[in-house]
Amino acid sequence: MRADRPGEDEAAQEIERLRERIAYHDYRYYVLDDPEIPDAEYDRLMRRLQQLEAWYPQLVTPDSPTQRIGGEPLEGFETVRHVVPMLSLNNAFSEQEVCEFDRRIRETLGEDIVEYVAEPKLDGLAISLLYQDGRLLRAATRGDGHRGEDVTLNVRTIPSVPLRLRGGDYPERLEARGEIYMPKAGFEALNRRQRERGEKTFANPRNAAAGSLRQLDPRVTAERPLAFYAYAVGEVSAELAHTHAGQLAQLKAWGLPVSSLIEICRGWQACLDYYHRMQARRPELAFEIDGVVYKVNSIAQQRKLGFVARAPRWAIAHKFPAEEELTRVLAIDVQVGRTGAVTPVARLEPVFVGGVTVTNATLHNQDEIERKDVRVGDTVVVRRAGDVIPEVVRVVLSRRPADARPFIMPSQCPVCGSAIVRAEGEAVARCSGGLYCPAQRKAAIRHFASRRAMDIEGLGEKLIDQLIDSGLVQTVADLYRLEAADLSKLERMGEKSAAKLVAAIERSKHTTLARFLYALGIREVGEATAANLARHFGDLEPLMAASEEQLQQVEEVGEVVARHIRTFFEQAHNREVIEQLRAHGVHWDPVEQPAAQGPLAGKIVVLTGSLTSMSRSEAKMRLQALGAKVSSSVSKNTDYVVAGDKPGSKLAKAEQLGVEVVDEARLLDWLGEN
Ligand code: IVH
Repeated sequence: MRADRPGEDEAAQEIERLRERIAYHDYRYYVLDDPEIPDAEYDRLMRRLQQLEAWYPQLVTPDSPTQRIGGEPLEGFETVRHVVPMLSLNNAFSEQEVCEFDRRIRETLGEDIVEYVAEPKLDGLAISLLYQDGRLLRAATRGDGHRGEDVTLNVRTIPSVPLRLRGGDYPERLEARGEIYMPKAGFEALNRRQRERGEKTFANPRNAAAGSLRQLDPRVTAERPLAFYAYAVGEVSAELAHTHAGQLAQLKAWGLPVSSLIEICRGWQACLDYYHRMQARRPELAFEIDGVVYKVNSIAQQRKLGFVARAPRWAIAHKFPAEEELTRVLAIDVQVGRTGAVTPVARLEPVFVGGVTVTNATLHNQDEIERKDVRVGDTVVVRRAGDVIPEVVRVVLSRRPADARPFIMPSQCPVCGSAIVRAEGEAVARCSGGLYCPAQRKAAIRHFASRRAMDIEGLGEKLIDQLIDSGLVQTVADLYRLEAADLSKLERMGEKSAAKLVAAIERSKHTTLARFLYALGIREVGEATAANLARHFGDLEPLMAASEEQLQQVEEVGEVVARHIRTFFEQAHNREVIEQLRAHGVHWDPVEQPAAQGPLAGKIVVLTGSLTSMSRSEAKMRLQALGAKVSSSVSKNTDYVVAGDKPGSKLAKAEQLGVEVVDEARLLDWLGEN
């Protein structure tokens, strides 16, 4: 995007192009409910247009997208007029912009410090709820801000929208405004259902909420998990509280849901502090937020500040860094994993998304690439939410260059040259080189040394590459033959770090059977299965001798996993490596057998939130040692939910189902630590 100031003729041309593009994306977003580009890119187009029009006001026309809000109402719903226009918010994308917003306000008001109300910016769609004599008379979408669509029948189906107000002191006529949204869990469930029924899935909860509200058949809307939060007052027949916070409290008292995350912040620094706290909590919230909103608390001050064009001067939306961005696919490479799985990876033009610079995104497998039709040269939407690995969401087909090339899975491993094969019925293609393939060996060692496996501190990716490439290490057993003198010959490895690494390798010899099994990297044997195997068999020998049928007696071990375990132990070279590891002194303490009796025997326990005294995985293993079954989701069969700090949606689910919730102190009691 150009940031420079062109001459008037050139500006006129650029303005025309921008208006056409914005009109196209408006159509996708408002009419089709199927946006093609992320909001961040749309915002940039709009900002550039606003900038050009600010430089050349003579080029502003009444039909410019900067001069209106939203799109035309859709056919099928009645049009309603908003007595008080439904405005939009200006956006701030940086702390500096928030600081400037506050400075302008302080200057206008002549105040040293201003009190704000900070709220989450819910990512749904704006709604107006008109109550006459305490009854819901009409619900309308924002539309173009002056006229919206009557969606009363649909909104009536939303459980969190009261049909009657509580108490008796509400005004005769009261218009509450707020956001209709779809909680994350409901969104996931809806998409799962849509997929099962072979129907179209939604790109995000906002689209799902919009699509659900615009259903002409309210019975369809009723099946959709929509929710509502109030955040403002529109038309009202009586005087309300003199502060925004006071008005929200009134709305709440009258039975309208108001977010519990709303806080009063004195001054802009308190606002920024709120922003950071909300950003940290974002992944655990039950609904999507795309930023926070600061509003001047005093209504008298709001009146003094007034409006510019389509937005109030007294409020601003402080947006989080976008979780979706546009970039270009420079190449598609393949990566070979520990089990030989060949994963295509998109090499991307670096892009700042979700707070980090992303240069690679996984494309999962051939089917996935074909489904999304990702080609080298394509412009794609990449998404990185929280700590989740970045992924390519979709291609922007309108930006596909004529020479974009489809990806073809190579027939040979790019690392060892062995054939790449895809077993029938499997989504994943694999390098057939096994331990001959250096990529597989490197990945196997990385896994073996990882924190939750043998936990060899300091044995990182670069060092493993050097060890394999130099031939010092072939299998994981070779690690235990390394001496400081060998290591210090490697590049960037001093004597001190060599000695440290040898000590870390030495320490790793004392481990648990569960960790050891997990470290072996048997296909489909993750931490939980490894722990189950260790508990069931007690030691390695009986496990190695077990038949597939015997293996299937173990919790969570089915036919496929049992076969993988058998196959692994049948390989002579695997048995040899295990023997060598034990000869080098790798050992574990005897596994404690589960207490057959006891308060937790046979109970189903779910852990949520973080614990202060131990990790969740440790708690899980210790609970299992007491005979409990630890499950990852809450159902009516759950006996207890242990809620740590910042519990997620599982806590809400437990409360909803009436499952007993206990705290960390009770957990420690069970574990005999109190
Ligand atoms: S106040 C005059 N508060 O953001 C101010 N809006 O970009 C009117 N939104 O259309 C809006 N959370 O759909 C306000 N706490 C909040 C909000 C919020 C989400 C949405 C709303 C509005 C859009 C403006």
